[in-house]
Amino acid sequence: MPSDIALKSIFLGPQSENADWFERKVEEVLSHTFKWRQSRFPQDGRAISLQDTQQAEFIALQKKMSSALQELLHSLEGETPKFTPRYIGHMVSEISLPSLLAEFALLLHNPNNASKEAAKVGLVIERQAIEDLAKMIGFNPNLARGHFTSCGTVANFEALWRCLYWFDRKLSLALCLIDKNKKPKEDFFNLCHVSREKWLELSVQFSVQEVELNRFSILLQGPWGVPIREIIGTPFRGPILLVPGNRHYSWPKAAAVFGLGNASAWTVSLDKDGRLDVNDLKQKIEQARKEQRPILSVTSVAGTTELGEVDPIGEVQAVLEQHKNGQGLHLWHHVDAAYGGFFSCLKKSETSLLSQKILSAFEAFAKVDSITIDPHKLGYVPYACGAFLVKDEIHYQTYQVRAPYLQKETAVQAGWATTLEGSRSAAGAAAVWLTAKTLPFDSAGLGRILEKTIEAKHVFASELAQVQNINLVSPSDTNVLCFSFASKSDDIKVANNKTMNLFEKIEREPNFSVSRTTLLRSSYAKMISRLCGEWQVVDDGISDLVVIRLVLMNPFIVSKEMQIDFAKSFAQELK
Ligand SMILES: Cc1ncc(COP(=O)(O)O)c(C=O)c1O
Repeated sequence: MPSDIALKSIFLGPQSENADWFERKVEEVLSHTFKWRQSRFPQDGRAISLQDTQQAEFIALQKKMSSALQELLHSLEGETPKFTPRYIGHMVSEISLPSLLAEFALLLHNPNNASKEAAKVGLVIERQAIEDLAKMIGFNPNLARGHFTSCGTVANFEALWRCLYWFDRKLSLALCLIDKNKKPKEDFFNLCHVSREKWLELSVQFSVQEVELNRFSILLQGPWGVPIREIIGTPFRGPILLVPGNRHYSWPKAAAVFGLGNASAWTVSLDKDGRLDVNDLKQKIEQARKEQRPILSVTSVAGTTELGEVDPIGEVQAVLEQHKNGQGLHLWHHVDAAYGGFFSCLKKSETSLLSQKILSAFEAFAKVDSITIDPHKLGYVPYACGAFLVKDEIHYQTYQVRAPYLQKETAVQAGWATTLEGSRSAAGAAAVWLTAKTLPFDSAGLGRILEKTIEAKHVFASELAQVQNINLVSPSDTNVLCFSFASKSDDIKVANNKTMNLFEKIEREPNFSVSRTTLLRSSYAKMISRLCGEWQVVDDGISDLVVIRLVLMNPFIVSKEMQIDFAKSFAQELK
């Protein structure tokens, strides 16, 4: 096992320890860009003469720029110091030097990955970075498709957009065949879940032309333009999506944005440990069938927003495969791994602090249909950088739109035609690319940093366990640690007040930044009741549970060199 010293070269450091090296590299980037500009069309001559630069008005405007910059830098002194290991609040911490250098270099070139006309190199880098992520999660990098987004929310939207596309194709064919009396009305639900191969086979068998399908497409005609009720003979309440109770708020947002209605996001219950309950998933699939509500997608989460937990992704996949093999129901499995995606670096590690159960959930990534991963979380890349991946080009398809002023793009390459966003920076892609070249996405590369963050979680947990009235939330699957502050036999409402007061006190002090969250009874009922039992807090059966949340992702949090032991110091602060 290599020592950890090399890892210290990856970040600027809490005291800017690597400032000299970083400064030299930034200068290298600048001088390279200057020379590149000078070498492109030297025959064109200068646009800014030496005399210009000596004119009073030129100098005056430069001064204005300079003082505005000073003002900006001065106001940034008040920015949240997220680089320090004392910041353990939200899902952000240090940003890595490879990603900063790559972003800086790309900023100066400013490619627009909407089109290869404006991003000859940017799009190539993006493709390679997507391959790096695909390899990490276990997709075949040659077949996988995807692109970088501005955030995890948009990556989740990208997934739903594709699910809707394929649902619409199947729905159109189902309606067309039922309308022509080629298939009985009773087949409606099943026809909405056929495989793509079966869909193609049926289109050929019944000679269904594209124009006919388009007449029944709710995406082309609008949901009010297709007489679904008349064709299937019963009221149609639309498709649903199955999301676990621990889902991020981007899912109900997506349901609203895509016009499906908030109520179309059906919640799959959580078990007593706060993870997706596979039995409830099975029941919800049956309920959807009974109610004739086609299922757009099934989402599971790797690294939940509240607790950093990992759903049983392999078990969810196994349920979906049973439905496929038994009843020919093809259900799209999307994994929202916005936070936890990079932990799949560790899936082959035999020495990981992650449990076998969690590692096997990451192993199952290889089988799912699509994944969201946020490099701007555990990839240590600056904002705004999310990523959306699918396992093959069929899953990547969407309806084609036209943009006469841009070169035609294919339906399977990242570009304006296949991304929800229009103009897209290549900076995030380059940051991921340079990170992967420096620290490969495996247990010997980036995984070593992630492993340290899990170690930090254990160190904090054992320090906090010794503080009176601190009740740790278990399980804690990754590097997020939550706790409540309550004495034995406190009522849950009293416990919540005490936890909130403690949170406000920590917030008022300058020493540590933490976050707090509320485990909602509507989602976490079983877990709340178990935790109250374990902590001997009186559960009233109705209140939610407030907890303080530590996101322990800073790479230096268990530093042996620094003069402070952060875990001990935090525990002391609580005392
Ligand atoms: C599980 C999960 N999904 C999606 C998101 C959304 O990511 P973003 O804030 O980048 O939009 C988050 C953010 O914390 C998350 O935790």
